[in-house]
Amino acid sequence: MPQFDSSIAPVRQRYDALTLFFHWVTAAAVIFMFASAHIWAWLERGTPLRKELQSLHISCGILLAAVIILRLLWRIGSQWNARYKMPKAETSPAMRIIAHATHGLLYLLLVTQVVLGFLFRWAQEEPFRFFGLFDIPTLAPVDITMRHTFATLHNGVAWALIGLASAHALAALFHHYVLRDNVLRRMLPRS
Ligand code: HEM
Ligand code: HEM
Repeated sequence: MPQFDSSIAPVRQRYDALTLFFHWVTAAAVIFMFASAHIWAWLERGTPLRKELQSLHISCGILLAAVIILRLLWRIGSQWNARYKMPKAETSPAMRIIAHATHGLLYLLLVTQVVLGFLFRWAQEEPFRFFGLFDIPTLAPVDITMRHTFATLHNGVAWALIGLASAHALAALFHHYVLRDNVLRRMLPRS
Protein backbone atom coordinates (compact mmCIF):
# COMPACT_ATOMS: atom_id res chain seq x y z
CA MET A 1 0.00 0.00 0.00
CA PRO A 2 1.49 3.47 -0.89
CA GLN A 3 2.59 5.44 2.18
CA PHE A 4 1.63 9.12 2.70
CA ASP A 5 4.84 11.19 2.81
CA SER A 6 4.13 14.22 5.06
CA SER A 7 7.40 15.96 4.05
CA ILE A 8 6.11 16.46 0.49
CA ALA A 9 2.45 17.11 1.47
CA PRO A 10 1.08 20.35 -0.04
CA VAL A 11 0.23 23.03 2.55
CA ARG A 12 -3.52 22.92 3.23
CA GLN A 13 -5.49 25.95 1.99
CA ARG A 14 -8.76 24.99 3.71
CA TYR A 15 -10.11 22.61 6.33
CA ASP A 16 -10.91 19.05 5.23
CA ALA A 17 -14.44 18.13 4.10
CA LEU A 18 -15.40 16.43 7.37
CA THR A 19 -14.36 19.46 9.45
CA LEU A 20 -16.36 21.74 7.12
CA PHE A 21 -19.38 19.44 7.41
CA PHE A 22 -19.20 19.32 11.24
CA HIS A 23 -18.67 23.09 11.52
CA TRP A 24 -21.63 24.12 9.34
CA VAL A 25 -23.99 21.44 10.66
CA THR A 26 -23.19 22.60 14.22
CA ALA A 27 -23.73 26.26 13.27
CA ALA A 28 -27.11 25.50 11.61
CA ALA A 29 -28.18 23.30 14.55
CA VAL A 30 -27.31 25.94 17.17
CA ILE A 31 -29.28 28.61 15.28
CA PHE A 32 -32.25 26.25 14.87
CA MET A 33 -32.15 25.19 18.55
CA PHE A 34 -32.15 28.81 19.72
CA ALA A 35 -34.82 29.93 17.24
CA SER A 36 -37.15 26.97 17.92
CA ALA A 37 -37.14 27.67 21.69
CA HIS A 38 -37.89 31.35 21.12
CA ILE A 39 -40.67 30.60 18.64
CA TRP A 40 -42.47 28.14 20.94
CA ALA A 41 -42.23 30.69 23.78
CA TRP A 42 -44.75 32.79 21.77
CA LEU A 43 -47.19 29.90 21.37
CA GLU A 44 -49.86 29.05 23.91
CA ARG A 45 -49.05 26.20 26.31
CA GLY A 46 -50.46 22.84 25.28
CA THR A 47 -50.91 23.68 21.56
CA PRO A 48 -49.84 20.87 19.14
CA LEU A 49 -47.40 23.18 17.28
CA ARG A 50 -45.63 24.11 20.54
CA LYS A 51 -45.31 20.42 21.48
CA GLU A 52 -44.08 19.56 17.96
CA LEU A 53 -41.40 22.25 18.13
CA GLN A 54 -40.28 21.00 21.55
CA SER A 55 -40.00 17.39 20.29
CA LEU A 56 -38.10 18.61 17.22
CA HIS A 57 -35.76 20.63 19.50
CA ILE A 58 -35.11 17.53 21.60
CA SER A 59 -34.58 15.18 18.62
CA CYS A 60 -32.23 17.67 16.93
CA GLY A 61 -30.48 18.09 20.30
CA ILE A 62 -29.76 14.34 20.37
CA LEU A 63 -28.35 14.60 16.83
CA LEU A 64 -26.28 17.62 17.85
CA ALA A 65 -24.85 15.64 20.79
CA ALA A 66 -23.70 12.91 18.35
CA VAL A 67 -22.25 15.52 15.95
CA ILE A 68 -20.30 17.22 18.75
CA ILE A 69 -18.85 13.92 20.02
CA LEU A 70 -17.78 12.93 16.47
CA ARG A 71 -16.47 16.43 15.79
CA LEU A 72 -14.30 16.45 18.91
CA LEU A 73 -12.96 12.96 18.15
CA TRP A 74 -12.13 14.04 14.59
CA ARG A 75 -10.58 17.34 15.78
CA ILE A 76 -8.31 15.58 18.28
CA GLY A 77 -7.53 12.61 15.98
CA SER A 78 -6.78 14.66 12.84
CA GLN A 79 -4.31 16.87 14.78
CA TRP A 80 -1.81 14.01 14.64
CA ASN A 81 -2.09 13.47 10.90
CA ALA A 82 0.04 15.73 8.64
CA ARG A 83 -2.51 15.29 5.83
CA TYR A 84 -5.22 17.09 7.84
CA LYS A 85 -3.25 19.46 10.07
CA MET A 86 -3.97 23.11 9.20
CA PRO A 87 -1.17 25.68 8.97
CA LYS A 88 -1.49 28.72 11.26
CA ALA A 89 -3.91 31.38 10.00
CA GLU A 90 -2.33 34.52 8.49
CA THR A 91 -2.92 36.71 11.55
CA SER A 92 -0.89 38.26 14.37
CA PRO A 93 0.04 36.09 17.40
CA ALA A 94 -2.33 38.13 19.62
CA MET A 95 -5.26 37.56 17.24
CA ARG A 96 -4.41 33.86 17.10
CA ILE A 97 -4.52 33.56 20.91
CA ILE A 98 -7.92 35.32 21.01
CA ALA A 99 -9.23 33.06 18.21
CA HIS A 100 -8.02 29.89 19.97
CA ALA A 101 -9.54 31.01 23.27
CA THR A 102 -12.86 31.77 21.51
CA HIS A 103 -12.92 28.38 19.74
CA GLY A 104 -12.09 26.57 23.02
CA LEU A 105 -14.89 28.44 24.80
CA LEU A 106 -17.34 27.66 21.97
CA TYR A 107 -16.58 23.94 22.31
CA LEU A 108 -16.97 24.17 26.10
CA LEU A 109 -20.34 25.97 25.81
CA LEU A 110 -21.57 23.44 23.21
CA VAL A 111 -20.73 20.46 25.45
CA THR A 112 -22.19 22.19 28.54
CA GLN A 113 -25.40 23.03 26.69
CA VAL A 114 -25.90 19.48 25.45
CA VAL A 115 -25.28 18.02 28.92
CA LEU A 116 -27.72 20.54 30.44
CA GLY A 117 -30.31 19.70 27.75
CA PHE A 118 -30.18 16.01 28.65
CA LEU A 119 -30.29 16.68 32.42
CA PHE A 120 -33.19 19.11 31.87
CA ARG A 121 -35.23 16.51 29.95
CA TRP A 122 -34.55 13.78 32.50
CA ALA A 123 -35.63 16.15 35.30
CA GLN A 124 -38.88 16.87 33.42
CA GLU A 125 -39.72 13.15 33.53
CA GLU A 126 -41.47 13.46 30.17
CA PRO A 127 -41.01 11.30 27.02
CA PHE A 128 -37.44 11.60 25.65
CA ARG A 129 -37.92 10.37 22.07
CA PHE A 130 -35.68 10.55 19.01
CA PHE A 131 -37.94 11.53 16.05
CA GLY A 132 -40.58 9.04 17.28
CA LEU A 133 -38.16 6.16 16.59
CA PHE A 134 -36.90 5.19 20.06
CA ASP A 135 -36.67 6.46 23.64
CA ILE A 136 -33.48 7.73 25.26
CA PRO A 137 -33.03 5.84 28.54
CA THR A 138 -32.48 7.80 31.75
CA LEU A 139 -28.75 7.34 32.21
CA ALA A 140 -28.59 9.70 35.20
CA PRO A 141 -31.71 9.85 37.40
CA VAL A 142 -32.24 13.53 38.13
CA ASP A 143 -34.22 15.07 40.97
CA ILE A 144 -37.41 16.60 39.52
CA THR A 145 -36.98 19.66 41.80
CA MET A 146 -33.83 20.54 39.78
CA ARG A 147 -36.04 21.26 36.73
CA HIS A 148 -36.07 25.04 37.21
CA THR A 149 -32.34 25.21 37.91
CA PHE A 150 -31.61 23.32 34.65
CA ALA A 151 -34.08 25.54 32.74
CA THR A 152 -32.31 28.69 33.99
CA LEU A 153 -28.83 27.32 33.24
CA HIS A 154 -29.88 25.97 29.79
CA ASN A 155 -31.35 29.37 28.92
CA GLY A 156 -28.28 31.27 30.19
CA VAL A 157 -25.83 29.06 28.28
CA ALA A 158 -28.00 29.44 25.14
CA TRP A 159 -27.56 33.24 25.29
CA ALA A 160 -23.83 32.95 26.00
CA LEU A 161 -23.43 30.57 23.05
CA ILE A 162 -25.38 32.77 20.64
CA GLY A 163 -23.52 35.89 21.83
CA LEU A 164 -20.05 34.34 21.44
CA ALA A 165 -20.91 32.62 18.14
CA SER A 166 -22.17 35.97 16.76
CA ALA A 167 -18.93 37.72 17.76
CA HIS A 168 -17.01 34.80 16.20
CA ALA A 169 -19.00 35.05 12.93
CA LEU A 170 -18.51 38.86 12.83
CA ALA A 171 -14.76 38.33 13.31
CA ALA A 172 -14.73 35.87 10.37
CA LEU A 173 -16.57 38.42 8.18
CA PHE A 174 -14.18 41.18 9.31
CA HIS A 175 -11.24 39.00 8.21
CA HIS A 176 -12.86 38.39 4.84
CA TYR A 177 -14.18 41.83 3.91
CA VAL A 178 -11.86 44.23 5.79
CA LEU A 179 -8.54 42.44 6.33
CA ARG A 180 -9.06 40.50 3.09
CA ASP A 181 -7.13 37.45 4.31
CA ASN A 182 -7.91 33.73 3.88
CA VAL A 183 -9.38 33.01 7.35
CA LEU A 184 -13.03 32.64 6.23
CA ARG A 185 -12.13 30.88 2.96
CA ARG A 186 -10.38 28.14 5.01
CA MET A 187 -13.81 27.23 6.44
CA LEU A 188 -15.72 27.42 3.12
CA PRO A 189 -16.11 24.68 0.49
CA ARG A 190 -14.07 25.07 -2.70
CA SER A 191 -15.92 27.45 -5.05
C1 HEM B 1 -26.93 24.56 21.25
C2 HEM B 1 -27.90 23.83 21.59
C3 HEM B 1 -29.14 24.27 22.32
C4 HEM B 1 -29.70 25.52 22.46
C5 HEM B 1 -29.19 26.84 21.89
C6 HEM B 1 -30.89 25.34 23.26
C7 HEM B 1 -31.74 26.36 23.66
C8 HEM B 1 -32.86 26.20 24.45
C9 HEM B 1 -33.65 27.28 24.98
C10 HEM B 1 -33.36 28.78 24.79
C11 HEM B 1 -34.67 26.72 25.70
C12 HEM B 1 -35.77 27.48 26.48
C13 HEM B 1 -35.33 27.51 27.94
C14 HEM B 1 -36.41 28.00 28.87
O1 HEM B 1 -37.59 27.85 28.55
O2 HEM B 1 -36.04 28.52 29.94
C15 HEM B 1 -34.54 25.29 25.59
C16 HEM B 1 -35.39 24.38 26.16
C17 HEM B 1 -35.18 23.02 26.17
N1 HEM B 1 -34.12 22.35 25.61
FE1 HEM B 1 -32.60 23.16 24.58
N2 HEM B 1 -31.04 24.01 23.57
C18 HEM B 1 -29.99 23.33 23.03
C19 HEM B 1 -29.73 21.98 23.11
C20 HEM B 1 -30.55 21.07 23.73
C21 HEM B 1 -30.28 19.65 23.82
C22 HEM B 1 -29.04 18.93 23.29
C23 HEM B 1 -31.32 19.09 24.50
C24 HEM B 1 -31.54 17.64 24.85
C25 HEM B 1 -31.55 16.69 24.01
C26 HEM B 1 -32.25 20.15 24.82
C27 HEM B 1 -33.42 19.99 25.52
C28 HEM B 1 -34.26 21.00 25.89
C29 HEM B 1 -35.47 20.80 26.66
C30 HEM B 1 -35.99 19.44 27.18
C31 HEM B 1 -36.06 22.04 26.80
C32 HEM B 1 -37.38 22.35 27.53
C33 HEM B 1 -38.52 21.96 26.66
C34 HEM B 1 -39.84 22.13 27.38
O3 HEM B 1 -40.07 23.21 27.93
O4 HEM B 1 -40.57 21.14 27.41
N3 HEM B 1 -31.75 21.35 24.34
N4 HEM B 1 -33.42 25.01 24.84
C1 HEM C 1 -23.35 28.80 16.18
C2 HEM C 1 -22.51 29.05 15.24
C3 HEM C 1 -21.03 28.65 15.24
C4 HEM C 1 -20.29 27.87 16.08
C5 HEM C 1 -20.76 27.15 17.34
C6 HEM C 1 -18.92 27.87 15.57
C7 HEM C 1 -17.85 27.20 16.16
C8 HEM C 1 -16.57 27.17 15.66
C9 HEM C 1 -15.47 26.47 16.27
C10 HEM C 1 -15.55 25.67 17.58
C11 HEM C 1 -14.38 26.65 15.49
C12 HEM C 1 -12.98 26.10 15.73
C13 HEM C 1 -12.70 24.98 14.75
C14 HEM C 1 -11.48 24.21 15.17
O1 HEM C 1 -10.37 24.72 15.00
O2 HEM C 1 -11.65 23.10 15.69
C15 HEM C 1 -14.78 27.47 14.37
C16 HEM C 1 -13.97 27.88 13.34
C17 HEM C 1 -14.34 28.78 12.37
N1 HEM C 1 -15.59 29.35 12.19
FE1 HEM C 1 -17.21 28.99 13.30
N2 HEM C 1 -18.87 28.63 14.43
C18 HEM C 1 -20.14 29.12 14.20
C19 HEM C 1 -20.54 29.93 13.16
C20 HEM C 1 -19.70 30.49 12.22
C21 HEM C 1 -20.09 31.42 11.17
C22 HEM C 1 -21.53 31.92 10.96
C23 HEM C 1 -18.96 31.72 10.48
C24 HEM C 1 -18.78 32.65 9.28
C25 HEM C 1 -19.43 33.76 9.11
C26 HEM C 1 -17.85 30.97 11.06
C27 HEM C 1 -16.55 30.98 10.60
C28 HEM C 1 -15.52 30.21 11.11
C29 HEM C 1 -14.17 30.19 10.55
C30 HEM C 1 -13.66 31.00 9.37
C31 HEM C 1 -13.42 29.30 11.34
C32 HEM C 1 -11.95 28.92 11.16
C33 HEM C 1 -11.07 29.90 11.88
C34 HEM C 1 -9.60 29.53 11.75
O3 HEM C 1 -9.21 28.91 10.80
O4 HEM C 1 -8.86 29.89 12.66
N3 HEM C 1 -18.35 30.23 12.13
N4 HEM C 1 -16.13 27.78 14.50
